Amino acid sequence: MSLDEKIGLVTGQWGLSVGPFKADPQARGGDGFAKGVARLGVPNLQLIGAGLGVTDLGRRANGPSTALPSTLALAASFDPGLSYAYGEVIGRETRQEGFNVSLGGAVNLTRDPRGGRAFEYHGEDPILAGKMIAPQLRAIQDQGVVATIKHFALNDQETDRFGVNEVIDERAMREGELLAFEIGIKESGVGAVMCSYNQVNGDYACENNKLLNRLLKGEWGFKGWVMSDWGGTHSTAKAINTGLDQEFFDGTKFGPALAVAVQAGEVPAWRLDDMVRRIVRSLMAVGAMADKVVTPIDPAAGAEVALRSAQEGSVLLKNNGVLPVRPAKRLRIAVIGLNADRAVMSGGGSSQVNPVGGNAIPPQTIPSGPLGFAGIPVWVSSSPVAALRARLPGADIQFDSGEAPDRAARLARSADVTIVFAGRRRTEGTDAPDLTLGAGQDDLIAAVADAHRKTVVVLETGGAVLMPWVSKVGAVLEAWYPGQQGGEAIADLLTGAVNPSGKLPLTFPASEADLPRAKILGVAKDRIELEDVLHPKRVDVRLTEGVLVGYKWFDAQGKTPLFPFGHGLSYTSFGYDRLSATFDDSLTATFSLTNAGKVPGTEVAQLYVSLPASTGGPPRRLAGWARVNLAVGEKRTVQIHVDPKALAIWDIAAQRWRLPAGDYTVSVGGSSRDLPLKIKLALAEARWVP
Ligand code: NOJ
Repeated sequence: MSLDEKIGLVTGQWGLSVGPFKADPQARGGDGFAKGVARLGVPNLQLIGAGLGVTDLGRRANGPSTALPSTLALAASFDPGLSYAYGEVIGRETRQEGFNVSLGGAVNLTRDPRGGRAFEYHGEDPILAGKMIAPQLRAIQDQGVVATIKHFALNDQETDRFGVNEVIDERAMREGELLAFEIGIKESGVGAVMCSYNQVNGDYACENNKLLNRLLKGEWGFKGWVMSDWGGTHSTAKAINTGLDQEFFDGTKFGPALAVAVQAGEVPAWRLDDMVRRIVRSLMAVGAMADKVVTPIDPAAGAEVALRSAQEGSVLLKNNGVLPVRPAKRLRIAVIGLNADRAVMSGGGSSQVNPVGGNAIPPQTIPSGPLGFAGIPVWVSSSPVAALRARLPGADIQFDSGEAPDRAARLARSADVTIVFAGRRRTEGTDAPDLTLGAGQDDLIAAVADAHRKTVVVLETGGAVLMPWVSKVGAVLEAWYPGQQGGEAIADLLTGAVNPSGKLPLTFPASEADLPRAKILGVAKDRIELEDVLHPKRVDVRLTEGVLVGYKWFDAQGKTPLFPFGHGLSYTSFGYDRLSATFDDSLTATFSLTNAGKVPGTEVAQLYVSLPASTGGPPRRLAGWARVNLAVGEKRTVQIHVDPKALAIWDIAAQRWRLPAGDYTVSVGGSSRDLPLKIKLALAEARWVP
């Protein structure tokens, strides 16, 4: 390759025209584009967003794609097999729409429940997040598309995300978010890593020698390429020599500046070759050297996975017996709020899918510019009311918008069961200012629940919310952003056609005062200017809670959450007994699980481990789980093998993972706060973990 050809491949551009940036005529309108080398059979890189389905920021002719539930819902399924199916839909549609690099795979931990992108992530636990993202990435690549894991690392807040400097100690980082990345990368063979906007301990993540060269490419042996987030490249020689392989998006740091740096010897020639080789290697590794042939997507295949993900990922948080709603003579149901007669909510930002059928409730005006679509609320056409009517044909189901709480309460009084829908949109770029539902929805729910004891609340949220009304209502179902089959899945769960089986992938706090920080630090902005991206101001955020993220914080502080990590109810009940465990190369636990109720069901049995007290870590950590289907009365012996990293601590002095000697407690049960089985094991001698 000539110098120009090499530079073309490592200098990424927008794939669509945005503001002053004009897209290359060969770009297919995705988020990114980089010039291939046709004479050598290296295709153009056509990159497209894909957290929750293939995105469509530029409204392409073939843009509408399967709108899957949020990855937070996927994480709540605790089902790696489902995660593979989810990735398969994304990979297949990415290829069919003519793209060869998918920008999905966000695995930052939800360190603060107000995080604007919590819906795009996989919860607050590194083992869960890592084990759930790996199959998704593998599946994308099995479709002949390079997958990307992002945002490496610590992109844990949206406020000031371009300049925030996350100050965190090494052990907290290794046993926390970096463990999710390590598992995700090693277990998937993912071809690309996107480094994040923020700084980590004083260096931008995209020019961070410790993260990129030493850890990712050195210790973990990552063979693929590192691309910057869009506008996240801040230098030429420094970024390249610390491990960045590809710039996005404006070509000012690579491009001609890179040619100058190579000629001046600031960037060695071998390093430019290494950058190019990494990109071509990843294309070859997944079979993406041939240009993609554009073909129509298969909406039915996507819909099946969207439905299953919403069914498995919704979490029944509370039920005093009002659910499931059974068919009955002259059954009257009041459904209130959140456009439940037409649509379900989705989250905003670059992960926004343009659902097949378009925006069910388009706003009056769409902000100008090609990225305007990313800024508007998109309602996904799927009506819970219609789906309930289909499942309960004899019932009289009335809908009220919920705009007037008095009117809604009157309707509730006339019904046998009332179902209130409530939700809040989250979006990339801004964190939620607080954990309320907003828009008067808490008052609406309270007014309806006061009027009617049999009130069910269905939530469509991008993360945790507070529930000041929780003691008044009969049941709460968390459906997250449930995607294009959301209405169907919700109706299946409410009527018992499907038994709920999801478990919380993050803690629902009782109050924001219980969080490590009263507020997310930094200055929240409604509108981001190009200047904010290119020349951000540094804001230091000290992550003093260290490894105590989410439930680990609540456990260590002895605080009672509203609903704990791992919690989720079923219409049946499960019995746990006879726990035994062995500690050879790693830990294996065996126990029996019984369906003690009257309907078939699926339990996510969770295993937590408390390390020897001298290690000073969290009181307990999730170390493994099993998702088990049980018929009525069925009893099964369940075995869980624990990944040794889930038990290890990062030994800073030795720079290795270590299983400390001492007493370990293994606990098993249906949530992090409901662990009926316990057993103690001793490890006589400390051990290194490879
Ligand atoms: C910025 C986002 O942080 C990232 O997730 C996305 O892939 C790029 N923009 C491209 O749209």
